[in-house]
Amino acid sequence: MSAELLIRGGTIVTSERTFAGDVRVRDGRIVEVIERPMEGSGGDARSGGGVRADGDARTGGDVSVGSDVRLGGDEPAVGDARAAGPANEENVLDATGMYVLPGLVDLHVHFRDPGLTDKEDFETGTAAAALGGVTTVLDMPNTKPPVGSASVLRQKAAAVAGRAYVDYKLYGVITEHNLPLLAEMAEAGAAAFKLFLGPTTGDIKAPGWGKLIEVFETVRDLNVPLVVHAEDRDVIEYWEKRAAQRTMGVGGGFWHDVYDFRPPSDEEYSTFLATRPRFGEAAATQTVCLLAAMTNTPVHIAHVSIKEAVDVIRQAKAAGAPVSAETCPQYLTLTSADCRRLGPVSKVLPPVREKADQEALWQALQDGVIDMIASDHAPHEAAAKESPSWSKAAAGLLGVQTMLLVLLNEAEQGRLTLNDLVRWASRRPAELFGFDDEKGDIRPGLDADLVVVDPRRETTVTAEWLQSKSKNSHLIGRTLRGAVVHTIVRGHVVVRDGRLTGLRIGRNLFERAPAPPPYV
Ligand code: NCD
Ligand code: ZN
Ligand code: ZN
Repeated sequence: MSAELLIRGGTIVTSERTFAGDVRVRDGRIVEVIERPMEGSGGDARSGGGVRADGDARTGGDVSVGSDVRLGGDEPAVGDARAAGPANEENVLDATGMYVLPGLVDLHVHFRDPGLTDKEDFETGTAAAALGGVTTVLDMPNTKPPVGSASVLRQKAAAVAGRAYVDYKLYGVITEHNLPLLAEMAEAGAAAFKLFLGPTTGDIKAPGWGKLIEVFETVRDLNVPLVVHAEDRDVIEYWEKRAAQRTMGVGGGFWHDVYDFRPPSDEEYSTFLATRPRFGEAAATQTVCLLAAMTNTPVHIAHVSIKEAVDVIRQAKAAGAPVSAETCPQYLTLTSADCRRLGPVSKVLPPVREKADQEALWQALQDGVIDMIASDHAPHEAAAKESPSWSKAAAGLLGVQTMLLVLLNEAEQGRLTLNDLVRWASRRPAELFGFDDEKGDIRPGLDADLVVVDPRRETTVTAEWLQSKSKNSHLIGRTLRGAVVHTIVRGHVVVRDGRLTGLRIGRNLFERAPAPPPYV
């Protein structure tokens, strides 16, 4: 690859502002962001019903886009394309009429490698990421064997090395027994520790609450992020048993109340929901927040799905607890009605609930109670996923390839601005994992991790387009406004004109040499 690249003529979207300009890249880093006046800027660019770009972002200059950049409008903002490019025109990507965003940082993916590669592997997973505009992934540790020691972490790192289309880091897991091994895992490069408080894929058991005090204190002292699946195992196991009994003709009042005297069927979504009472997520979230506050350990709550958990986090944050949280596109866009229609292909843990939950999650993002969005990309092979039984079907949805487009479509509906999107799905995750001095935004000095999106095109989710091994997407057949045109990882074009170029230059960020000081 040539060391220079110019992305010219696009509408640049950072975590704070939207403006016309070019991005100049050298040796994998952004070296210059050239801001230029936009055609039709000022009052003319205003148009109803478009994306709410940040009106507040007008900061003195006369080059700001203003408050109504339209996504999917007939005439997207067009920059002045007369900027000087590098000598070699091959190294120019024309972004005229398109958005240039920082590549997304997906802090929650399950790429299943090694050990569960019937579901996904590192090549297919990172290919899906690249095609979806995600340039960094944090891969979960419920692989086989689970990543519960330094040696397993090193084996996993060796197994996936050289196979990734995008950059990555690997999680370690906290089990009932591996407290003494957390320090060596941190040393071996664990991006974070994952704690599964409820049963989910892999069924990795957590220590009890007593031991967790020690675990939290240990993780705090190691200064590694702690990410928690907050659903209570006891609550779930009890109600799963009760559901099984009731379908066998045993059991009592609760089911009568829920089912209005009809025996619950395993093919009904309400039966699945009843096996994961909302109390399970609310209680686990509450206890995690208490533990974070009382041990002074920063904790990140994964895939928040219900309004009670939002309330708990809101209170904990207000009281100063060191807590952050994520939610996922599925909780922001689906409700139980969709799951009933879609069937068990839409089974995910925690389950998708009601419209009121969805509203609470959007509000929590706006209020800063939920800090970020991740995909929780969790594929399963067809045999595991394609079951009419909610209890037997595997839980987990595809998401890494569709997250950006789904969020762009929500932006078109006015649910978020493009700057929110960048903040929630790129910058904040980079901050959580401590690499925001390298990734997560567009400014000189950062890695040239960029995605060029055409808002005028559409993308239909098909089995052919999906790069994952699993084609069991709840979105299959859906047409989304917008298309990922180019994806750039550290200056390498890994997706050009909507196709993988074949470069697999993804690196384990742990192994990366530290950034050179600015005076070099
Ligand atoms: C995830 C998986 O399959 O690994 N499934 C899911 O439903 N979310 C595990 C998890 O994130 O809990
Ligand atoms: Zn989980
Ligand atoms: Zn997950």
